[in-house]
Amino acid sequence: MNPVRPITLLWSLRSLCDLACPSCYFGDPLIHQIKPPTKVGQLSHISPNDLKRREVLAFVRTLKDSAVGRIFVAGGEPLNWPGILETLKIIKEAGIEVIVCTNGIPLTRPVMLQSLLDVGIDAASVSLDSTDSAFNDWMRPDPKGEHGWQDVVDGIRALLAARAVDGPRVGIYTVITRLNIDQIPAMGRFAADLGVDYYVPQPIALEDDHIHHEQLSLRPEDTSALSDAFAELYAAGLPLTLPAGTYPSQVTAGVPRATTTVKGCFGGRTLHFVQPDGTIWDCVSSLRINATPASAHRTIRGQSAAELFPAPTGCASDCPLASYECVNMWPLMDFDRILTPASRSAA
Ligand SMILES: C[S@@+](CC[C@H](N)C(=O)[O-])C[C@H]1O[C@@H](n2cnc3c(N)ncnc32)[C@H](O)[C@@H]1O
Repeated sequence: MNPVRPITLLWSLRSLCDLACPSCYFGDPLIHQIKPPTKVGQLSHISPNDLKRREVLAFVRTLKDSAVGRIFVAGGEPLNWPGILETLKIIKEAGIEVIVCTNGIPLTRPVMLQSLLDVGIDAASVSLDSTDSAFNDWMRPDPKGEHGWQDVVDGIRALLAARAVDGPRVGIYTVITRLNIDQIPAMGRFAADLGVDYYVPQPIALEDDHIHHEQLSLRPEDTSALSDAFAELYAAGLPLTLPAGTYPSQVTAGVPRATTTVKGCFGGRTLHFVQPDGTIWDCVSSLRINATPASAHRTIRGQSAAELFPAPTGCASDCPLASYECVNMWPLMDFDRILTPASRSAA
Protein backbone atom coordinates (compact mmCIF):
# COMPACT_ATOMS: atom_id res chain seq x y z
CA MET A 1 0.00 0.00 0.00
CA ASN A 2 1.25 3.46 -0.88
CA PRO A 3 2.45 4.87 2.51
CA VAL A 4 1.52 8.40 1.42
CA ARG A 5 -1.98 7.27 0.52
CA PRO A 6 -2.83 4.68 3.16
CA ILE A 7 -6.62 4.92 2.97
CA THR A 8 -8.79 2.17 1.49
CA LEU A 9 -12.40 2.78 0.46
CA LEU A 10 -14.89 -0.04 0.20
CA TRP A 11 -17.41 1.65 -2.06
CA SER A 12 -20.79 0.09 -2.74
CA LEU A 13 -21.12 2.26 -5.77
CA ARG A 14 -24.58 1.37 -7.01
CA SER A 15 -27.56 -0.56 -5.71
CA LEU A 16 -28.69 -2.38 -8.82
CA CYS A 17 -27.63 -5.98 -9.49
CA ASP A 18 -28.88 -8.54 -11.99
CA LEU A 19 -28.72 -11.30 -9.39
CA ALA A 20 -31.08 -11.48 -6.43
CA CYS A 21 -29.07 -13.38 -3.81
CA PRO A 22 -31.49 -14.01 -0.91
CA SER A 23 -28.65 -13.64 1.59
CA CYS A 24 -27.13 -10.48 0.09
CA TYR A 25 -26.40 -7.74 2.61
CA PHE A 26 -28.36 -5.41 0.31
CA GLY A 27 -31.48 -7.37 1.29
CA ASP A 28 -34.22 -8.89 -0.82
CA PRO A 29 -35.69 -6.53 -3.45
CA LEU A 30 -39.10 -8.23 -3.29
CA ILE A 31 -39.31 -7.78 0.49
CA HIS A 32 -38.06 -4.19 0.19
CA GLN A 33 -40.82 -3.38 -2.33
CA ILE A 34 -43.38 -4.20 0.34
CA LYS A 35 -41.38 -3.09 3.36
CA PRO A 36 -38.65 -0.53 2.54
CA PRO A 37 -35.69 -0.60 4.93
CA THR A 38 -35.78 1.84 7.79
CA LYS A 39 -32.64 1.10 9.82
CA VAL A 40 -29.73 3.54 9.67
CA GLY A 41 -27.12 2.30 7.19
CA GLN A 42 -29.35 -0.50 5.89
CA LEU A 43 -28.75 -1.15 2.21
CA SER A 44 -31.31 -1.92 -0.46
CA HIS A 45 -31.18 -2.87 -4.12
CA ILE A 46 -34.10 -0.47 -4.55
CA SER A 47 -32.59 2.81 -3.57
CA PRO A 48 -34.04 6.05 -4.92
CA ASN A 49 -31.27 7.93 -3.12
CA ASP A 50 -28.28 6.57 -5.04
CA LEU A 51 -25.84 9.30 -6.04
CA LYS A 52 -26.39 10.66 -9.51
CA ARG A 53 -23.68 10.02 -12.09
CA ARG A 54 -22.57 13.67 -12.01
CA GLU A 55 -22.26 13.50 -8.21
CA VAL A 56 -20.11 10.36 -8.39
CA LEU A 57 -17.91 11.93 -11.07
CA ALA A 58 -17.57 15.20 -9.17
CA PHE A 59 -16.37 13.28 -6.11
CA VAL A 60 -13.91 11.00 -7.94
CA ARG A 61 -12.33 14.05 -9.59
CA THR A 62 -11.29 15.22 -6.12
CA LEU A 63 -9.63 11.92 -5.15
CA LYS A 64 -6.20 12.79 -6.56
CA ASP A 65 -5.59 15.27 -3.74
CA SER A 66 -6.63 12.86 -0.98
CA ALA A 67 -4.89 10.10 1.00
CA VAL A 68 -7.01 7.41 -0.67
CA GLY A 69 -4.72 4.85 -2.29
CA ARG A 70 -7.00 1.91 -2.98
CA ILE A 71 -10.69 1.54 -3.78
CA PHE A 72 -12.76 -1.64 -3.82
CA VAL A 73 -15.64 -0.85 -6.16
CA ALA A 74 -18.64 -3.04 -5.31
CA GLY A 75 -22.40 -2.74 -5.35
CA GLY A 76 -24.97 -3.92 -6.30
CA GLU A 77 -23.25 -4.81 -9.54
CA PRO A 78 -20.87 -1.97 -10.38
CA LEU A 79 -20.20 -3.10 -13.95
CA ASN A 80 -23.87 -2.72 -14.91
CA TRP A 81 -23.90 0.99 -14.11
CA PRO A 82 -23.52 3.20 -17.22
CA GLY A 83 -21.04 5.56 -15.51
CA ILE A 84 -18.65 2.86 -14.39
CA LEU A 85 -15.91 3.09 -17.01
CA GLU A 86 -15.64 6.87 -16.75
CA THR A 87 -15.51 6.56 -12.97
CA LEU A 88 -12.81 3.85 -13.05
CA LYS A 89 -10.76 5.88 -15.56
CA ILE A 90 -10.72 8.94 -13.32
CA ILE A 91 -9.81 6.82 -10.28
CA LYS A 92 -6.92 5.20 -12.15
CA GLU A 93 -5.72 8.56 -13.54
CA ALA A 94 -5.55 9.76 -9.93
CA GLY A 95 -2.96 7.02 -9.29
CA ILE A 96 -5.31 4.99 -7.13
CA GLU A 97 -5.47 1.19 -7.18
CA VAL A 98 -8.87 -0.17 -8.03
CA ILE A 99 -10.33 -3.59 -7.40
CA VAL A 100 -13.64 -4.35 -9.08
CA CYS A 101 -15.91 -6.68 -7.09
CA THR A 102 -18.28 -8.26 -9.60
CA ASN A 103 -20.74 -11.08 -10.06
CA GLY A 104 -18.64 -11.96 -13.12
CA ILE A 105 -21.42 -11.91 -15.69
CA PRO A 106 -20.38 -8.56 -17.27
CA LEU A 107 -16.93 -10.08 -17.96
CA THR A 108 -18.57 -12.20 -20.67
CA ARG A 109 -19.26 -8.98 -22.63
CA PRO A 110 -16.20 -8.42 -24.87
CA VAL A 111 -16.53 -4.62 -24.92
CA MET A 112 -16.76 -4.41 -21.14
CA LEU A 113 -13.84 -6.80 -20.74
CA GLN A 114 -11.57 -4.84 -23.09
CA SER A 115 -12.62 -1.54 -21.50
CA LEU A 116 -11.63 -2.82 -18.04
CA LEU A 117 -8.22 -3.82 -19.41
CA ASP A 118 -7.83 -0.46 -21.15
CA VAL A 119 -8.72 1.42 -17.99
CA GLY A 120 -6.09 -0.63 -16.14
CA ILE A 121 -7.99 -2.03 -13.17
CA ASP A 122 -5.65 -3.67 -10.68
CA ALA A 123 -7.82 -6.67 -9.84
CA ALA A 124 -11.21 -8.24 -10.26
CA SER A 125 -12.76 -10.18 -7.39
CA VAL A 126 -15.44 -12.45 -8.82
CA SER A 127 -18.12 -14.06 -6.66
CA LEU A 128 -18.73 -17.78 -7.06
CA ASP A 129 -20.13 -19.82 -4.20
CA SER A 130 -19.67 -23.42 -5.29
CA THR A 131 -18.19 -25.87 -7.75
CA ASP A 132 -21.76 -27.18 -7.93
CA SER A 133 -23.60 -24.98 -10.44
CA ALA A 134 -27.03 -25.80 -9.00
CA PHE A 135 -26.00 -24.80 -5.46
CA ASN A 136 -24.32 -21.62 -6.73
CA ASP A 137 -27.38 -20.62 -8.73
CA TRP A 138 -29.59 -21.28 -5.72
CA MET A 139 -27.40 -18.98 -3.62
CA ARG A 140 -27.02 -16.45 -6.44
CA PRO A 141 -30.21 -16.64 -8.57
CA ASP A 142 -30.90 -14.56 -11.65
CA PRO A 143 -34.63 -13.65 -11.40
CA LYS A 144 -34.79 -13.56 -15.20
CA GLY A 145 -33.25 -17.04 -15.38
CA GLU A 146 -30.77 -15.88 -18.01
CA HIS A 147 -27.41 -16.14 -16.26
CA GLY A 148 -25.69 -18.32 -13.72
CA TRP A 149 -22.63 -20.36 -12.77
CA GLN A 150 -21.50 -21.06 -16.34
CA ASP A 151 -21.50 -17.36 -17.29
CA VAL A 152 -19.43 -16.53 -14.22
CA VAL A 153 -16.86 -19.21 -15.05
CA ASP A 154 -16.86 -18.05 -18.69
CA GLY A 155 -16.31 -14.48 -17.51
CA ILE A 156 -13.37 -15.49 -15.32
CA ARG A 157 -11.84 -17.50 -18.17
CA ALA A 158 -12.32 -14.60 -20.60
CA LEU A 159 -10.53 -12.16 -18.29
CA LEU A 160 -7.68 -14.58 -17.65
CA ALA A 161 -7.26 -15.17 -21.38
CA ALA A 162 -7.42 -11.50 -22.37
CA ARG A 163 -5.15 -9.93 -19.75
CA ALA A 164 -1.48 -9.15 -20.30
CA VAL A 165 1.22 -10.60 -18.02
CA ASP A 166 1.17 -7.43 -15.94
CA GLY A 167 -2.62 -7.14 -16.24
CA PRO A 168 -5.17 -7.29 -13.46
CA ARG A 169 -5.05 -9.95 -10.75
CA VAL A 170 -8.11 -12.18 -10.86
CA GLY A 171 -9.66 -13.76 -7.79
CA ILE A 172 -12.67 -15.66 -6.56
CA TYR A 173 -14.67 -14.84 -3.45
CA THR A 174 -16.91 -17.58 -2.04
CA VAL A 175 -19.56 -16.93 0.60
CA ILE A 176 -19.29 -19.72 3.18
CA THR A 177 -22.50 -20.85 4.85
CA ARG A 178 -23.19 -23.93 6.97
CA LEU A 179 -24.34 -25.61 3.74
CA ASN A 180 -21.09 -25.29 1.76
CA ILE A 181 -18.22 -25.63 4.24
CA ASP A 182 -16.85 -28.45 2.07
CA GLN A 183 -16.44 -25.88 -0.71
CA ILE A 184 -13.60 -24.13 1.12
CA PRO A 185 -10.97 -26.58 -0.20
CA ALA A 186 -13.04 -27.59 -3.25
CA MET A 187 -13.38 -24.03 -4.54
CA GLY A 188 -9.67 -23.46 -3.81
CA ARG A 189 -8.78 -26.36 -6.09
CA PHE A 190 -11.28 -25.19 -8.71
CA ALA A 191 -9.88 -21.64 -8.59
CA ALA A 192 -6.35 -22.97 -9.01
CA ASP A 193 -7.43 -25.15 -11.94
CA LEU A 194 -8.99 -22.10 -13.60
CA GLY A 195 -5.68 -20.27 -13.12
CA VAL A 196 -6.89 -17.42 -10.91
CA ASP A 197 -4.44 -15.57 -8.68
CA TYR A 198 -6.28 -15.45 -5.35
CA TYR A 199 -9.11 -17.08 -3.50
CA VAL A 200 -11.01 -15.79 -0.46
CA PRO A 201 -13.66 -17.88 1.33
CA GLN A 202 -15.71 -15.32 3.28
CA PRO A 203 -18.14 -16.29 6.05
CA ILE A 204 -21.72 -15.27 5.55
CA ALA A 205 -22.85 -12.32 7.65
CA LEU A 206 -26.56 -12.28 8.40
CA GLU A 207 -28.33 -10.50 11.23
CA ASP A 208 -30.09 -12.69 13.82
CA ASP A 209 -33.53 -11.74 12.47
CA HIS A 210 -32.67 -12.44 8.81
CA ILE A 211 -35.02 -15.03 7.30
CA HIS A 212 -32.06 -17.19 6.21
CA HIS A 213 -30.04 -16.88 9.43
CA GLU A 214 -31.12 -20.25 10.83
CA GLN A 215 -30.49 -22.05 7.57
CA LEU A 216 -27.22 -20.43 6.49
CA SER A 217 -25.30 -18.75 9.31
CA LEU A 218 -22.34 -20.67 10.69
CA ARG A 219 -22.88 -22.04 14.20
CA PRO A 220 -20.45 -23.00 16.98
CA GLU A 221 -21.03 -26.69 16.16
CA ASP A 222 -19.68 -25.98 12.64
CA THR A 223 -16.29 -24.69 13.81
CA SER A 224 -14.57 -28.06 13.78
CA ALA A 225 -15.62 -28.72 10.16
CA LEU A 226 -14.69 -25.14 9.33
CA SER A 227 -11.20 -25.50 10.82
CA ASP A 228 -10.67 -28.81 9.03
CA ALA A 229 -11.78 -27.32 5.70
CA PHE A 230 -9.43 -24.35 6.08
CA ALA A 231 -6.58 -26.67 7.12
CA GLU A 232 -7.15 -28.74 3.97
CA LEU A 233 -7.17 -25.60 1.81
CA TYR A 234 -3.98 -24.17 3.30
CA ALA A 235 -2.17 -27.54 3.23
CA ALA A 236 -2.97 -28.12 -0.44
CA GLY A 237 -0.11 -25.92 -1.66
CA LEU A 238 -2.28 -24.42 -4.40
CA PRO A 239 -0.64 -21.97 -6.82
CA LEU A 240 -2.72 -19.00 -5.69
CA THR A 241 -2.68 -16.43 -2.91
CA LEU A 242 -4.89 -17.13 0.10
CA PRO A 243 -5.69 -14.75 2.96
CA ALA A 244 -3.01 -14.55 5.67
CA GLY A 245 -2.47 -17.65 7.83
CA THR A 246 -4.25 -15.91 10.73
CA TYR A 247 -7.48 -15.64 8.74
CA PRO A 248 -8.96 -19.12 9.39
CA SER A 249 -8.82 -18.55 13.15
CA GLN A 250 -10.38 -15.09 12.68
CA VAL A 251 -13.24 -16.75 10.78
CA THR A 252 -13.83 -19.41 13.45
CA ALA A 253 -13.50 -16.83 16.25
CA GLY A 254 -16.33 -14.85 14.62
CA VAL A 255 -18.77 -17.76 14.57
CA PRO A 256 -20.12 -17.33 18.15
CA ARG A 257 -21.02 -13.75 17.12
CA ALA A 258 -19.62 -12.23 20.29
CA THR A 259 -18.79 -8.54 20.33
CA THR A 260 -15.06 -8.08 20.92
CA THR A 261 -12.40 -5.37 20.93
CA VAL A 262 -9.95 -4.95 18.08
CA LYS A 263 -6.73 -3.23 19.11
CA GLY A 264 -5.73 -0.38 16.80
CA CYS A 265 -8.60 -0.91 14.38
CA PHE A 266 -8.32 0.38 10.81
CA GLY A 267 -12.07 1.21 10.69
CA GLY A 268 -12.57 4.96 10.30
CA ARG A 269 -8.83 5.49 10.01
CA THR A 270 -7.42 3.71 6.97
CA LEU A 271 -10.71 2.05 5.99
CA HIS A 272 -13.98 3.77 5.15
CA PHE A 273 -17.19 2.22 3.81
CA VAL A 274 -19.16 4.30 1.30
CA GLN A 275 -22.77 3.44 0.45
CA PRO A 276 -24.61 4.08 -2.86
CA ASP A 277 -26.29 7.19 -1.42
CA GLY A 278 -22.85 8.58 -0.56
CA THR A 279 -23.02 7.89 3.18
CA ILE A 280 -19.61 7.19 4.73
CA TRP A 281 -19.20 4.79 7.65
CA ASP A 282 -16.04 3.73 9.50
CA CYS A 283 -16.58 0.13 8.43
CA VAL A 284 -19.33 -2.37 7.62
CA SER A 285 -20.05 -3.35 11.24
CA SER A 286 -23.70 -2.60 11.98
CA LEU A 287 -22.74 -2.22 15.64
CA ARG A 288 -20.33 0.55 14.75
CA ILE A 289 -22.79 2.11 12.30
CA ASN A 290 -25.51 2.13 14.98
CA ALA A 291 -23.08 3.64 17.48
CA THR A 292 -22.23 6.54 15.17
CA PRO A 293 -24.04 9.64 16.47
CA ALA A 294 -26.08 11.58 13.93
CA SER A 295 -23.71 14.52 14.43
CA ALA A 296 -20.90 12.32 13.05
CA HIS A 297 -22.80 11.15 9.96
CA ARG A 298 -20.86 11.97 6.79
CA THR A 299 -21.41 11.83 3.03
CA ILE A 300 -19.32 12.14 -0.11
CA ARG A 301 -22.22 13.99 -1.77
CA GLY A 302 -20.95 17.44 -2.76
CA GLN A 303 -17.76 16.95 -0.75
CA SER A 304 -14.07 16.87 -1.59
CA ALA A 305 -12.08 13.68 -0.98
CA ALA A 306 -9.09 15.71 0.20
CA GLU A 307 -11.18 17.15 3.05
CA LEU A 308 -12.96 13.91 3.88
CA PHE A 309 -9.92 11.65 3.64
CA PRO A 310 -6.71 13.44 4.64
CA ALA A 311 -3.67 11.41 5.73
CA PRO A 312 -4.49 9.91 9.16
CA THR A 313 -2.56 11.32 12.13
CA GLY A 314 -2.03 9.99 15.66
CA CYS A 315 -2.55 6.40 16.72
CA ALA A 316 -5.30 4.06 15.64
CA SER A 317 -7.92 3.59 18.34
CA ASP A 318 -9.24 0.32 19.71
CA CYS A 319 -12.74 -0.62 18.55
CA PRO A 320 -14.91 -2.36 21.18
CA LEU A 321 -17.60 -3.06 18.57
CA ALA A 322 -15.94 -5.70 16.43
CA SER A 323 -18.42 -8.32 15.31
CA TYR A 324 -18.78 -11.28 12.96
CA GLU A 325 -19.41 -8.75 10.17
CA CYS A 326 -15.86 -7.42 10.48
CA VAL A 327 -14.13 -10.70 9.56
CA ASN A 328 -14.39 -10.00 5.83
CA MET A 329 -12.44 -6.77 6.28
CA TRP A 330 -9.17 -8.53 7.18
CA PRO A 331 -8.38 -9.95 3.71
CA LEU A 332 -9.48 -6.65 2.20
CA MET A 333 -7.04 -4.67 4.31
CA ASP A 334 -4.29 -7.17 3.52
CA PHE A 335 -4.61 -6.82 -0.25
CA ASP A 336 -0.92 -5.95 -0.76
CA ARG A 337 -0.31 -9.70 -0.59
CA ILE A 338 -2.62 -10.13 -3.57
CA LEU A 339 -1.67 -7.16 -5.70
CA THR A 340 2.05 -7.59 -5.07
CA PRO A 341 2.66 -11.24 -4.24
CA ALA A 342 6.27 -12.38 -3.69
CA SER A 343 6.37 -13.75 -7.24
CA ARG A 344 5.55 -10.31 -8.68
CA SER A 345 7.81 -8.22 -6.45
CA ALA A 346 10.75 -10.54 -7.27
CA ALA A 347 10.12 -10.20 -11.01
C1 LIG B 1 -22.77 -7.47 -2.47
S1 LIG B 1 -21.60 -8.13 -3.61
C2 LIG B 1 -21.44 -6.78 -4.72
C3 LIG B 1 -20.50 -7.03 -5.86
C4 LIG B 1 -20.95 -7.97 -6.95
N1 LIG B 1 -22.30 -7.78 -7.38
C5 LIG B 1 -20.70 -9.42 -6.60
O1 LIG B 1 -21.61 -10.25 -6.76
O2 LIG B 1 -19.59 -9.73 -6.18
C6 LIG B 1 -20.04 -8.11 -2.77
C7 LIG B 1 -19.64 -9.41 -2.13
O3 LIG B 1 -20.33 -9.56 -0.91
C8 LIG B 1 -20.77 -10.89 -0.80
N2 LIG B 1 -21.92 -10.92 0.10
C9 LIG B 1 -23.17 -10.48 -0.14
N3 LIG B 1 -23.95 -10.66 0.94
C10 LIG B 1 -23.19 -11.23 1.88
C11 LIG B 1 -23.42 -11.64 3.21
N4 LIG B 1 -24.61 -11.51 3.78
N5 LIG B 1 -22.38 -12.17 3.91
C12 LIG B 1 -21.16 -12.30 3.34
N6 LIG B 1 -20.88 -11.91 2.10
C13 LIG B 1 -21.87 -11.39 1.37
C14 LIG B 1 -21.06 -11.28 -2.23
O4 LIG B 1 -21.10 -12.68 -2.42
C15 LIG B 1 -19.89 -10.65 -2.94
O5 LIG B 1 -18.76 -11.50 -2.90
